[in-house]
Amino acid sequence: MKKNRLIPKIAGETREDHIPLMLDESMELLLDYIETHEEIEKILEIGTAVGWSSMCMAGVRKTIHVDTVEIDLDMAEKAINNIRDNDLRDQITVHHIDALQYETGKIFDLIFIDAAKSQYMNYVDHFFDNSHTGTMFVFDNLNFHGIVDDPSLSHNRSTIQLTRKIREFREKLSGDPRFATQFMDIGDGIAFAERIV
Ligand SMILES: C[S@@+](CC[C@H](N)C(=O)[O-])C[C@H]1O[C@@H](n2cnc3c(N)ncnc32)[C@H](O)[C@@H]1O
Repeated sequence: MKKNRLIPKIAGETREDHIPLMLDESMELLLDYIETHEEIEKILEIGTAVGWSSMCMAGVRKTIHVDTVEIDLDMAEKAINNIRDNDLRDQITVHHIDALQYETGKIFDLIFIDAAKSQYMNYVDHFFDNSHTGTMFVFDNLNFHGIVDDPSLSHNRSTIQLTRKIREFREKLSGDPRFATQFMDIGDGIAFAERIV
């Protein structure tokens, strides 16, 4: 039987608090990718929330280190406590800062982008020099509850504007010669974009 690699308790509590964590099926896909690519050791995550996805990724192998960036102080503090309670402090560093202000000389094998959806291309450009050829960039929520493909599902102006931006991002990413990109209709829509130059 497949080992349960998710941390259900924290995810469950947080979903009840309406904090949008990655859906389990998308996380399983991401963990499968990390598990089958043993060369992945350095991970950057943009959007920590309470540390659930960081902890799931760090749990794949002891050799993995996750740097995770969170703009919200309350979230960053919850994440630090959860990471301590799960004995993962050696493997995860939480940075409380706006990702677009975060500068590091580190080069990452995988960059998981799960923060402000309207900023996705800005995050890519900001962190491109922190990647190498072969680095996998992963993006969540690219369907945004189906509204990206069917705007009639929402009557909320800001949601419609946001989903238009996500659609533009998907188009830019698929035509971006720096990446070989695969979009998948799993969870809330996920893309794996491998840096190829
Ligand atoms: C979807 S949640 C992250 C969920 C988390 N990756 C998980 O699945 O466990 C998005 C998080 O990104 C954070 N965020 C939004 N804009 C940000 C920014 N510019 N820099 C860093 N974090 C940001 C939000 O505060 C929120 O906690």
